[in-house]
Amino acid sequence: MKGSHFIIVFLLLNFLHLLLPVFPLPLCSNSEAPLPHKDPLKFCPYNGTSCCNSADDSRIQKQFQVMNISNSACAALVKSVLCAECDKFSAELFRISSVPRQVPVLCNSSTASSVSTQTIKDTNDFCSKVWTACQNASITNSPFAASLKGQVPAPVKSNVTKLMDLWQSEADFCNVFGGASGDGSVCFDGEPVALNSTAPPSPPGGLCLERIGNNAYLNMAAHPDGSNRAFFSNQEGKIWLATIPEVGSGGSLELDEASPFVDLSDEVHFDTQFGLMGIAFHPKFSQNGRFFASFNCDKQKWPGCAGRCACNSDVNCDPSKLPPDSGAQPCQYQTVVAEFTANGTAPQPSEAKSANAHEVRRIFTMGLPFTSHHGGQILFGPDGYLYFMMGDGGGAGSSDPYNFAQNKKSLLGKIMRLDIDNVPSATEVAKLGLWGNYSIPKDNPYTDDKELQPEIWALGFQNPWRCSFDSARPSYFICADVGQDHYEEVDLVTKGGNYGWRVYEGPFRFTPPMSPGGNTSVDSITPIFPVMGYNHSDVNKNIGSASITGGYFYRSTTDPCMYGRYLYADLYGGAIWAGSETPEDSGVFNPTLISFACSHDSPMNCSLVPGSSVPALGYIFSFGEDNNKDIYILASSGVYRVVPPSKCNISCSKENTSAVPSTQGSSGPVSSPPSEATLSAGLYNNLVVLLLSLCLLLVF
Ligand SMILES: *[C@@H]1O[C@H](CO)[C@@H](O)[C@H](O)[C@H]1NC(C)=O
Ligand SMILES: *[C@@H]1O[C@H](CO)[C@@H](O)[C@H](O)[C@H]1NC(C)=O
Ligand SMILES: *[C@@H]1O[C@H](CO)[C@@H](O)[C@H](O)[C@H]1NC(C)=O
Ligand SMILES: *[C@@H]1O[C@H](CO)[C@@H](O)[C@H](O)[C@H]1NC(C)=O
Ligand SMILES: *[C@@H]1O[C@H](CO)[C@@H](O)[C@H](O)[C@H]1NC(C)=O
Ligand SMILES: *[C@@H]1O[C@H](CO)[C@@H](O)[C@H](O)[C@H]1NC(C)=O
Ligand SMILES: *[C@@H]1O[C@H](CO)[C@@H](O)[C@H](O)[C@H]1NC(C)=O
Ligand SMILES: *[C@@H]1O[C@H](CO)[C@@H](O)[C@H](O)[C@H]1NC(C)=O
Ligand SMILES: *[C@@H]1O[C@H](CO)[C@@H](O)[C@H](O)[C@H]1NC(C)=O
Ligand SMILES: *[C@@H]1O[C@H](CO)[C@@H](O)[C@H](O)[C@H]1NC(C)=O
Ligand SMILES: *[C@@H]1O[C@H](CO)[C@@H](O)[C@H](O)[C@H]1NC(C)=O
Ligand SMILES: *[C@@H]1O[C@H](CO)[C@@H](O)[C@H](O)[C@H]1NC(C)=O
Repeated sequence: MKGSHFIIVFLLLNFLHLLLPVFPLPLCSNSEAPLPHKDPLKFCPYNGTSCCNSADDSRIQKQFQVMNISNSACAALVKSVLCAECDKFSAELFRISSVPRQVPVLCNSSTASSVSTQTIKDTNDFCSKVWTACQNASITNSPFAASLKGQVPAPVKSNVTKLMDLWQSEADFCNVFGGASGDGSVCFDGEPVALNSTAPPSPPGGLCLERIGNNAYLNMAAHPDGSNRAFFSNQEGKIWLATIPEVGSGGSLELDEASPFVDLSDEVHFDTQFGLMGIAFHPKFSQNGRFFASFNCDKQKWPGCAGRCACNSDVNCDPSKLPPDSGAQPCQYQTVVAEFTANGTAPQPSEAKSANAHEVRRIFTMGLPFTSHHGGQILFGPDGYLYFMMGDGGGAGSSDPYNFAQNKKSLLGKIMRLDIDNVPSATEVAKLGLWGNYSIPKDNPYTDDKELQPEIWALGFQNPWRCSFDSARPSYFICADVGQDHYEEVDLVTKGGNYGWRVYEGPFRFTPPMSPGGNTSVDSITPIFPVMGYNHSDVNKNIGSASITGGYFYRSTTDPCMYGRYLYADLYGGAIWAGSETPEDSGVFNPTLISFACSHDSPMNCSLVPGSSVPALGYIFSFGEDNNKDIYILASSGVYRVVPPSKCNISCSKENTSAVPSTQGSSGPVSSPPSEATLSAGLYNNLVVLLLSLCLLLVF
């Protein structure tokens, strides 16, 4: 019963998504990020960061000249319409994810009337302005006529048209080209888009956590059936299926440690810096049973561990000349993405409680040059493609001596985007020189930049450690990228974007201690700088190190004061941030360090000292999001969930405390947990080993 209820809600939410497309801002109509262009534009009034370079500018100028519009009022408006392509919000203005448009959405009056301000109507009615000024003007190769291809009205015979030839009235015209701002979208009013400035929301009072699991996991993936279940995996190679208790029920994770969903530890090479790094369940898992694991293997121990070396002649790298790293030979360790199936253990994959550890298909294998920085997260994007996060491979000084992250032919230091639904034949795979059984999505950025390996979606990363898509805004793809000596960063990742490493570390220039593979010059790239981040000197002064763990945009209603903020943390557990975007959809973030506390009715003891409200998180390895959009922290001391702030006595004016269900008998208040105030020795030692390994993995 509950399952089906969840499914209905889930489908409904998905459906609403289709009805209310929300667009990323700022983004260009070619799906790439606007960039600061050094050459000023001569024609379009979009100097600075924009979606046009000077070549686009002169193309637009020529297009405008050909139009030969004699009416100057009309000409000025048409020029502004053509130049809207340069606006840094042009993806929005041209509504790229619906039917592609020739002309931006022109603000019209019907919507202005809904805004309760008297003065707005006329200024906002740009569509009407265009109609009035241009209805009788002759326009050669009019973009308005081109928009009509194959549609109403009668086919156009001449290249010279007037709006009046094509539309009966302003209403007809604005029916086609008019539109409104709203629902997170904007329309074109003749001027560059300026978002209404809003003061940043006041920082939340804090994050209230309850502890619902005892063990340390690296990954959590919500069950694709939309139910209250999720998969958890550890670094050694096991995946469990757990049922998640309702918030406020007093229950903890229902997970049988002794019977994992699948145990891959035979093929996974688990060591300080290696292991099962990522899991992903196909969006249609409930029907097709397909799931994927990203892990490391040791070719000296497992025959299945055999792939091309990331150090090869395509990237001017000779494996025989690489210095051995930690005693390992180049490409002794590999990174693998393999497909498995939940078929055969239950009548329907969605009912499966276990799966076979036998690999169905190899998706990807690549030998690693060194022993660190190999990311490994995998996740399905809202577009159905598999995103695969790969670090720069580390190496001497752990600062990418071969400059792989900036090398467009290397897959190290990249985010890849793969189509695993259309698997080419073995001969095709060999012919295309692919690293496994996948195909390349047709709109990957290599189509615009032939130098890019076709798998690449974005480049210039050191070690992306936890990326996520905003569940409310599918094109907000946000990643934390672990830094080197100074800065930990958060990037808003867009198609073809270069995030700067190792020309830059965050916003700072980086000087590599060793560079046998050469350098990339500052002038040859246009990096996209982080939207958030922190200096190493800002945290962990006693540890002397830092390593970022990326999280999620908080979209649950459980803590209404956290809604819409992006949560991320430092691995060492001392710091959690919430970044609010102001104005909304601007891509400008305002992060604040937030305090966190233990819920007074945490199902499991949450702090080391009984009665204390300071959570004993230990290391923060990762975050998770369930099908209710509730957020979890996967820490060395267990699994923590964000719960209503009132449970920590944190004030949040948006929280309706009367609606918070009262606590049931099964969980006692924090003042009465069992008296063990310290970790048991055995568990503690295990944790230390695991933690140290992860720190090495992430930091070096
Ligand atoms: C852009 O800037 C350049 C130089 O700063 C200036 O000459 C030019 O007029 C500007 N273009 C527009 C359209 O504002
Ligand atoms: C531009 O329009 C004028 C009339 O407004 C016309 O005389 C002229 O021939 C046109 N030029 C071109 C290149 O079509
Ligand atoms: C457009 O042309 C029509 C008929 O030729 C005329 O009635 C109307 O006043 C003109 N409008 C403008 C804005 O020039
Ligand atoms: C007129 O339009 C046709 C196609 O509609 C195009 O092939 C031709 O180049 C256009 N002529 C001019 C002068 O732009
Ligand atoms: C304004 O745009 C909307 C959306 O395209 C359209 O439905 C409506 O008819 C337009 N209003 C007017 C007055 O043309
Ligand atoms: C800015 O505020 C005005 C007036 O409230 C509104 O009409 C307009 O749509 C807003 N613009 C954006 C981009 O939200
Ligand atoms: C699993 O079952 C689904 C549905 O019957 C089927 O489409 C799929 O091919 C099966 N997968 C494997 C690996 O057998
Ligand atoms: C494709 O998958 C098959 C089955 O797992 C595997 O034998 C083959 O090596 C894979 N091809 C590549 C290039 O990884
Ligand atoms: C790369 O840059 C570093 C730091 O500026 C410099 O020391 C080194 O010589 C450069 N290496 C090459 C191969 O240009
Ligand atoms: C990081 O430190 C630099 C100076 O070293 C300072 O300018 C900058 O504001 C700091 N950034 C953050 C996010 O703390
Ligand atoms: C919660 O806060 C209120 C007011 O700040 C205080 O009176 C009360 O004792 C606190 N309760 C707990 C359990 O800390
Ligand atoms: C909670 O208490 C148990 C013993 O009851 C202890 O082993 C564990 O370390 C404690 N957990 C935390 C996070 O303090």
